[in-house]
Amino acid sequence: MFGSINNCHSVKDFRNLAKKRLPGPVFHYIDGAADDEVTYRRNTEAYEQCDLVPNVLTGVNNIDMSTTVMEQKLDMPLYFAPTALQRLFHHDGEIAVGKAAEKFGTMFGISSLGTASIEEVSKLISTPKLFQLYVHNDKGLNKELVDRCKDSNFETMCVTVDTIVGGNRERDLHTGFTIPMQLKLNSMMSFALHPRWAFNYLTHSKWELSNLKNHIAEGTNVMTNIGDYFTKMIDQSLNWKAVEEINKNWGKQFALKGIMSVEDAKRAIDIGATAIMVSNHGGRQLDGSRSPFDQLAEIVDAVGDKIDVICEGGIRRGTHVLKALSLGAKACSGGRMYLYALAAGGQKGVEKVMGNLRNEIERDMKLMGVTSIDQLSRKNLKFR
Ligand SMILES: Cc1cc2nc3c(=O)[nH]c(=O)nc-3n(C[C@H](O)[C@H](O)[C@H](O)COP(=O)(O)O)c2cc1C
Repeated sequence: MFGSINNCHSVKDFRNLAKKRLPGPVFHYIDGAADDEVTYRRNTEAYEQCDLVPNVLTGVNNIDMSTTVMEQKLDMPLYFAPTALQRLFHHDGEIAVGKAAEKFGTMFGISSLGTASIEEVSKLISTPKLFQLYVHNDKGLNKELVDRCKDSNFETMCVTVDTIVGGNRERDLHTGFTIPMQLKLNSMMSFALHPRWAFNYLTHSKWELSNLKNHIAEGTNVMTNIGDYFTKMIDQSLNWKAVEEINKNWGKQFALKGIMSVEDAKRAIDIGATAIMVSNHGGRQLDGSRSPFDQLAEIVDAVGDKIDVICEGGIRRGTHVLKALSLGAKACSGGRMYLYALAAGGQKGVEKVMGNLRNEIERDMKLMGVTSIDQLSRKNLKFR
């Protein structure tokens, strides 16, 4: 039973199993962050430095943990943040994660750097879909991606605004991580030590960045380091006007992902965004930047009545979700929490981790004495 997903009771357990199952460069790409990883650690620590104050004897037989965010009703207040390259972590990649999202009635975010196409994902699931747009230098590509999402009935879109250049992810530099994976001596060794992963990687459909491959060779046919990809391909002139234009062309629910200041949260409203993801990209970009949870109250106080505020990053426990909701977030999202599980056990792994987290949220709501998430408030939270 050791080393099986049934034995994984926490995100930490899944992380340990993912570490065993993946070649080092792939594990460290998921797990790593920028510079000294101070922000990455703080993202979770921030939740641990305030305490929940429960009320008791409230009658908690029936729990409703649903929420509505970006006009989408989600059965649970936690959804799948968009993450790149999922077929590298498990050969079923986005297909496995999308199906798990559907089972849990929650939103599935797909990255511009996804390894399943917008069209495949659209056919796959009926629960809300979020497309994450990286604005590339190639304007034709940007327009094509938005049009494809419209044609495929995506309900929501976000533009990631914290990745104007690649973060300094030193673990990737040490391991020599590239896409596609390069067959150098150290990665060959790593493959040999993880034969199941290597077999699946080499025998399933050809590696590609499904949504970009017709415009960009890097990452599909031309090997690139992920940091260099961003620095070379992303439009560094991106500004508020350009994002406003994208939103106008899109015309549906629209979020900016990676907003951290009150000033920018207000500007997001001015350009017509309907949501913001308070996020620092899981600590993978600007190390030393503030954690989303530390910054949440200020942002909710300034704009929470005009725009949906989503708290993203560092979430590993149901109690972390309850704390963010208590401060006024409409929903939470996470990346590594489900990527470890994907690596550990494909769709079954993702379902197990989401089941664990849903159980935690339900148990924690009961222990807090609330039956719906709108009953959570700052009265239930004390900062030390
Ligand atoms: C392996 C990995 C790949 C990611 N790829 C993307 C991406 O393609 N686009 C994006 O906007 N964010 C990406 N992110 C950031 C996530 O959307 C999210 O902000 C982050 O994972 C939140 O932190 P957490 O992992 O602690 O939950 C990625 C994160 C990870 C861990």
